[in-house]
Amino acid sequence: MTLKISVIGTGYLGATHAACLAELGFEVIGVDSDGGKVAHLNAGVAPFAEPGLDDLLNRHVSTGRLRFTTDVSEAAASSDVHFLCVGTPQAGSGLSADLSAVWTCTRELARHLTRDCLVIGKSTVPVGTAERLGSELARFAPTGIRTSVAWNPEFLREGHGVHDTLHPDRLVFGVATPDAELALRTIYEQAIADGVPVHVTDLATAELAKSAANAFLATKISFINAMTDISERADADVVALADILGDDPRIGRRFLDAGVGFGGGCLPKDLRALSARASELGARSVTGLLREVDAINLRARTKVAELARELTGGDLAGRRVAVLGAAFKPLSDDVRDSPALDVARRLHAQGADVRVFDPEAALNARAVAPELTYVASLESALRDADLVLHLTEWPQFVEMDPHWAASLVRRRVVVDGRNRLDPERWTMAGWTIQGIGRPKRQQPVATRTADAAAVI
Ligand code: UDX
Repeated sequence: MTLKISVIGTGYLGATHAACLAELGFEVIGVDSDGGKVAHLNAGVAPFAEPGLDDLLNRHVSTGRLRFTTDVSEAAASSDVHFLCVGTPQAGSGLSADLSAVWTCTRELARHLTRDCLVIGKSTVPVGTAERLGSELARFAPTGIRTSVAWNPEFLREGHGVHDTLHPDRLVFGVATPDAELALRTIYEQAIADGVPVHVTDLATAELAKSAANAFLATKISFINAMTDISERADADVVALADILGDDPRIGRRFLDAGVGFGGGCLPKDLRALSARASELGARSVTGLLREVDAINLRARTKVAELARELTGGDLAGRRVAVLGAAFKPLSDDVRDSPALDVARRLHAQGADVRVFDPEAALNARAVAPELTYVASLESALRDADLVLHLTEWPQFVEMDPHWAASLVRRRVVVDGRNRLDPERWTMAGWTIQGIGRPKRQQPVATRTADAAAVI
């Protein structure tokens, strides 16, 4: 018998998971309290940018294998397995995660259950949540209904969600019973047959696996961002340093790109939630480490904003600044905790005339930072700029012709907040370019040619 599956919460994680489960052949019902989102999904359209997702939604919504509803009772009555994928944002006060959506959905689901079921947590939660989830289900489910809990964290990256869900690099099954393990093995049969490693563990370790993975990635980025401080003081190049470190297979090159730091809906809040949970549990070394990782990351933004002020002669008032990028990373329209947007707002607050261009994220950016001016093209952002800030490494920014850009701006000064522009190319086109943690050697070509001539 094919398992019938529900996915509760249809954000980046849930919508992608639901569509991928349908792709694997399961009958899937997605549940979300947001009627607008449900209508979008039922029309086969993702409410956010995620490559490949519209195609999956379209195909499986039209066959009827995948549908979405706001009514949890439909899911409760029809599904053997429920994946819990609701958001766990940072709480309004403090660093911990806000689990209100987890508890609301759990109780709602439990109250409507008419059959035994397995609830599998996927949301990123503080360790210990799964255990409480089990007791909440037992407390609110009708008498005679048996429920059990498993934890199956998801490591998908935005912009690669479909690929990462269908071809994960590992599977983590936090289980308390053999039945739960069997259900998970059935659901992930294809990936297991493809050779994806499976880690069967307890609930707490599975919960911790996700928080710890994100905290480690954040630590890696903050490590290299800390190295920018010493590189700048010693006139060394952090990019070359990262390349050298990265050739050591024990270190690896990925997540060693220094710059304006990390953002998004996961890394910053997961880092803080883990730090808060560690503090509750008395694990002080974790709290101390992660607080510093967070602080280094926030200092990276301050550093870019200060560099911008310095490069406009110490006063941003009235200066036109082109901000390239608003999304927290390229190929995404997500602006949650975006370093680019944060820096843009800081410059605006200091009186700069900020023009933001992002190929995908302008609409979302405008909703959270309406005070900024958003322009429809790279060209309009660059026109008459006194300073250019490259803050999200969209391919069209990295590949931009510096001669073309030079013909548009008022002053040829660029801060490369992602260390992705080629300093040589930009310098040759007459720009003063400053990366993060890179030597202050890039002089406009006019000066260099004059020097060369003097030597001859
Ligand atoms: C992250 C994790 O990678 C993923 O496994 C988890 O499931 C969710 O959180 P995501 O938020 O999509 O995924 O973004 P990711 O690609 O990890 O980038 C996070 C941030 O770090 C971005 O702002 C990115 O620009 C920044 N980053 C990344 C750096 O500043 N330097 C790097 O070297 C790498």
